[in-house]
Amino acid sequence: MQRLAPALREDNVPLDLISLIKTILAATKEISFRVSQAHLGGLMGSTLDENIQGEVQKELDVVANELFKDILLESGFVKAVSSEEEDTSVAGNPKGKYLVSFDPLDGSSNIEINSLIGTIFSIHPAPENMDADDPDMFKQAGHKQVCAGYVLYGPATMLVMTTGSGTHFYVLDRTHGGYLLVERNVQVPEETQEFAVNMSNQRFWQAPMKNYIDDLLLGDTGPRGKNFNMRWIAAMVGDVHRVLTRGGIFTYPADNKDPKKPYKLRLMYEANPMSFLVEQAGGISVTSEGRIMDIEPGSIHQRVEVILGSKKEVEACLAYYK
Ligand code: AHG
Ligand code: MN
Ligand code: MN
Repeated sequence: MQRLAPALREDNVPLDLISLIKTILAATKEISFRVSQAHLGGLMGSTLDENIQGEVQKELDVVANELFKDILLESGFVKAVSSEEEDTSVAGNPKGKYLVSFDPLDGSSNIEINSLIGTIFSIHPAPENMDADDPDMFKQAGHKQVCAGYVLYGPATMLVMTTGSGTHFYVLDRTHGGYLLVERNVQVPEETQEFAVNMSNQRFWQAPMKNYIDDLLLGDTGPRGKNFNMRWIAAMVGDVHRVLTRGGIFTYPADNKDPKKPYKLRLMYEANPMSFLVEQAGGISVTSEGRIMDIEPGSIHQRVEVILGSKKEVEACLAYYK
């Protein structure tokens, strides 16, 4: 099996970007170890703090954030970083060529049940004419990403990454401590009979999504003429990984549960990197109004509606909005 760096060279990834990716992966290996030891090390609880989005931070959220941030800033490759767990961007090397946005631990509610969690990252080029401490550097659409990926801390620690030449799967081989390529150019099947959505929010959705899911639930007795299965891991990394592996549709639609917060998922470090991975695997990733990677971000922690997965199924869903 091929090692990571030669696989990236084959895709013509520039050497400085390969170095940055290696730095990111060094952080994920340490997070993977910390996650596996969390219970033994007394790191299973919540802190007394909330992040800027008003969510209680788990101890592991903070540990993973500090690790990821410190390793990146020390590397010299990044001009700034931004994270779910940081109020605003954090300046790095003024000459750094890249910006990294990340969700240090996705699926935090799964920590206490020893279930799936992961780290999501997104890399943009750093604008040369802006100060390293200017958060506006991050206001770049998703289609400008040069790399995106996530690492799953599951039964195997797995990296899923794209640099714009397809989406590839890698597994951490603990015998030598490196990631090995296990699947090149993953393709999301065009059609599916599986959907992922938090059904408990159903009464808060807009009519088109309600009608679409109702029709899926009718199965072969309804207009879709086939039965659908449902899965929900409550960690976007896990749900998107299933979609990449065997197809399906994943959505976190708009809801009116809390009028101040119509969307749940964050554009910069959840929706954009996942959209890049899904599109590179032949899938679609949109809001009910258009392509996610074309959204011009207004702020680092902006939230967005997400509908992604198998091409034909996402199109079937969007037809309800017309
Ligand atoms: P995070 O743990 O980084 O805050 O993200 C959790 C997100 C996402 O991973 C997942 O798809 C969704 O929240 C789960 O939402 P529910 O709590 O509604 O299931
Ligand atoms: Mn998350
Ligand atoms: Mn998180």
